[in-house]
Amino acid sequence: MRIAVLTGAGISAESGIRTFRATDGLWEEHRIEDVATPAGFRRDPVLVHRFYNMRRADAARARPNAAHRALAALAQRHQVTLITQNVDDLHERGGSPEVIHMHGSLLGALCAACGHRWSATLVMRSLDPCPRCGKPATRPDIVWFGEIPYHMERIWAAVEEAEIFAAIGTSGQVYPAAGLAQHAHRNGARTVELNLASSAVSSDFDEIRAGPATQLVPAWVAELTA
Ligand code: APR
Repeated sequence: MRIAVLTGAGISAESGIRTFRATDGLWEEHRIEDVATPAGFRRDPVLVHRFYNMRRADAARARPNAAHRALAALAQRHQVTLITQNVDDLHERGGSPEVIHMHGSLLGALCAACGHRWSATLVMRSLDPCPRCGKPATRPDIVWFGEIPYHMERIWAAVEEAEIFAAIGTSGQVYPAAGLAQHAHRNGARTVELNLASSAVSSDFDEIRAGPATQLVPAWVAELTA
């Protein structure tokens, strides 16, 4: 079966990685305009690198949980397109063979001057020279607010072909990710939302399952692979 899965910060919450909009979320402590916009990076690249160095260290310390591993098991039995808004690599370390990072990845570095991409080191500095053009214009390879998410053609196509679409651990506040369930439904998919709480787009889903991802996702995968 063709299954498209969208994950958000909630799938990594039980691995100890902070979400964004919970009461102790990242956006309670950091202003989006300071650390997650191109203007913020131009204004203070040191602050931005400090923010992502902290998140990169948190991700490196974290371990994949049962939800990440269950999605890897699902891909053994079905044609799964795994789309994540997350920038950690817990899906990859949990065994998922192919992960589409629509908001980029903490493991990537990007040159703001020439567009060159390379693997990030644990600690990045804006003055690190780009390996290709040599300019001190190194930024995290993260899609910031106001920028265009990556791989959208591939994502739309997978969602249109899916027979099942599941959204796991996302608050449905950021588009185009938040619009994928409706798009899947319009193209005939059965849609399910797995989340600790209701999201801004829960009404777009055929089915809602409430609870922690480490319980919901293995149970959902067990039903699909029985
Ligand atoms: N199990 C399942 N869901 C959970 C769990 C859990 N253990 N813990 C939290 N959640 C859910 C919350 O109910 C919420 O719906 O995860 C969601 C987290 O929402 P956000 O913090 O808004 O994260 P996300 O939806 O991934 O944000 C989307 O916004 O800030 C940008 O680019 C950033 O990719 C991010 C995007």
